[in-house]
Amino acid sequence: MSISKAEVVARYLPKSLAPGVSAEAFAPSNIALCKYWGKRDAELNLPINSSLSISLAKLGTHTCLSESVSGQDEVWLNGESISSNSTFAKKLLSFIGLFRGNLSQPLRVVTTNTVPTAAGLASSASGFAALMMAINEFYRLSLPSEVLSAFARMGSGSASRSLYHGFVEWQMGVREDGMDSHAQRLDLQWPEFRIGLLKLSTEQKAVDSRSGMGRTLETSHLYSAWPMQAALDLEKLRAAVFERSIDQLGSVAEHNSLSMHATMISSWPPLLYWLPESVAVMRQVWALREQGMPVYFTMDAGPNIKLLFTKEHQVSLQQAFPLLEVVEPFSV
Ligand code: PMV
Repeated sequence: MSISKAEVVARYLPKSLAPGVSAEAFAPSNIALCKYWGKRDAELNLPINSSLSISLAKLGTHTCLSESVSGQDEVWLNGESISSNSTFAKKLLSFIGLFRGNLSQPLRVVTTNTVPTAAGLASSASGFAALMMAINEFYRLSLPSEVLSAFARMGSGSASRSLYHGFVEWQMGVREDGMDSHAQRLDLQWPEFRIGLLKLSTEQKAVDSRSGMGRTLETSHLYSAWPMQAALDLEKLRAAVFERSIDQLGSVAEHNSLSMHATMISSWPPLLYWLPESVAVMRQVWALREQGMPVYFTMDAGPNIKLLFTKEHQVSLQQAFPLLEVVEPFSV
């Protein structure tokens, strides 16, 4: 039996809360280069492997928390009021519920994603990270950033990494309460590093990451090789990042992503997130590499592709992929 989220959080809360008037926070989205795939504890979102990501600068989520004057909790998303019965509002309010104790004060949560809808990125990582920071400020909890990262993880695993900009490593941790399972920023800048977002489909993903991970763990024989590969890839990626080597970073990240997808495809029923368009882009990337262009890709639990490259090749890649949306992770 795992410890409940509420039990873990309660250990860090003051005896009585002193809410402020309002609090605002921003957190960036992130793309994993060494993926998180598989939970050792599904209640606390504790991972089977450590992971490493790059945050997407200004693309992410702004969240503002204040007292609701309507007398009820209110949730707003991208300028629209959201029904409190919707899955989105329920998830968000139940997360806030971990922190508000017995306070009856109703809240107004206004959340705005700066990720363009055309980019095809999940917003749960930046969403829970921004919400956690806003809660910390609103209730004047003054929690240190490792604790905020560990708590954001309980909303969505990858949210632990969205507390920081730049390259970020999430250590899996070993504790039962998960408080050593949090992220930290790698202390380096790489201003020339670029991520290119290629949205290939607008459809909602058929199987979300939580169910996908569960199914993979239960049914894929290949999964047993994953934790070891992820551990080795993480070491290589950290070295690549500090050496600013795009070939080392790109090749390890692409291999890591395809290995994660191999575990998904070998699940039953199979989890194939790719579309024919995804495969066409992969082949185009490989052809460009054959011609000497240092470009690599990574993919998450969906059909969209993220390209990894450096500034000097940006113009050529934008010509090769007219829909490419380029992010400069170190522009903030
Ligand atoms: O944080 P979740 O539950 O959305 O899972 C994220 C899973 C991947 O995006 C596939 C990998 C990762 O590390 O972000």
